[in-house]
Amino acid sequence: MAPGDPILGLTEAFVADTRPGKINLGVGIYCDEQGKIPLMKAVRDVDQALARAENPRGYLPINGLKAYNELTQQLLFGADSPLLAEGRVATAQTIGGSAALRVAADLLKQTAGAGAKVAISNPSWGNHHVVFRTAGFELLEYRYYDKETHGLDFAGMLEDLGKLEPGTVVLLHACCHNPTGVDLDAAQWQQAIELMKERQLLPFVDAAYQGFDKGLDADATAIRLLAASGIEAFVVANSYSKSFSLYGERVGAISMVGRDRDEAARVLSRIKTTIRSIYSSPAAHGAYLVAGVLGDPALRASWEEELGGMRTRIHEMRAGLVDGLAAAGLPQFDFINRQAGMFSYSGLSKAQVERLREDFAIYALTSGRICVAALNRSNLDAVVAAIAAVS
Ligand code: LMR
Repeated sequence: MAPGDPILGLTEAFVADTRPGKINLGVGIYCDEQGKIPLMKAVRDVDQALARAENPRGYLPINGLKAYNELTQQLLFGADSPLLAEGRVATAQTIGGSAALRVAADLLKQTAGAGAKVAISNPSWGNHHVVFRTAGFELLEYRYYDKETHGLDFAGMLEDLGKLEPGTVVLLHACCHNPTGVDLDAAQWQQAIELMKERQLLPFVDAAYQGFDKGLDADATAIRLLAASGIEAFVVANSYSKSFSLYGERVGAISMVGRDRDEAARVLSRIKTTIRSIYSSPAAHGAYLVAGVLGDPALRASWEEELGGMRTRIHEMRAGLVDGLAAAGLPQFDFINRQAGMFSYSGLSKAQVERLREDFAIYALTSGRICVAALNRSNLDAVVAAIAAVS
């Protein structure tokens, strides 16, 4: 038997739990005030129009829907990006952000051969290790999270990046770092990017939460600074699971930046052979939904507004948790307000997390990661009381 997945396996246990009032703060899913996964209005409108159109269900091209790829590039790099005008970005729709990571990892491994190395933040999303290890990479770690301050160990990060061999892939989180919620600011990104350029490292940005912290453009700061840095090659994997609330549609993309238009064309040809060898071509429906929203100014405005509302609600829930814990005599959790996105690395120990599950039917990851986007005004008090009881 293989061990269960630390995140999705926990959801299986949550579903099987028959206790009323159970709360899932494990998996990274945004739930609304009613505790439901929202169907965004703009997505619903496109979905209904698609149902009425009764289109035939042909294959998409290997690299997916053209409009989806172009709109994705604009969202990530900015509509006026010189990289796009120069044709330097090869983008392919993928089956969620996970396939984007895996396709790129397989492709980079083919190029790097036996010496392929990737440096991953300590800690990181558990599946990063699984994907790169399975693709044949040697895994390295760079310091990232400072347990004492619950913030960034930037000096440690720079020191570790500075020791990497040229050509090493450096996996970075664009924003809303998973699992810590601790991000670099623009000045820190600039410094890290200069170092990666000097050391000839290959930046690989995982962008799964664009729009969940400050806004669509602000949350793409790392990508925009990389684009402006003069670094010739870098990679961006992105996911729309969260920002479009389309988890099960598996909508993501891989974008690989090359030195010039010719190199980007060669890279795209390699992306396509890699995809063909794994799943032939991506699923269509989610891509039609995302492209339908992003390509229509009114629907896009509606989506951006609703996304903004989700962002605000997450900030409110963070503040509510911090205030509630302070009122329960635990002011030391105020760092949760300084973290960004869906997650907080709460500092709760494995034993405390186990007690939350066993005694209170509250599910969190054993690392102490909690999904603050699953909090609402109805479950907040129960979560505060349970954390206070185990603290
Ligand atoms: C998470 O970190 O909870 C999400 O990204 C879902 C997943 O696939 O692990």
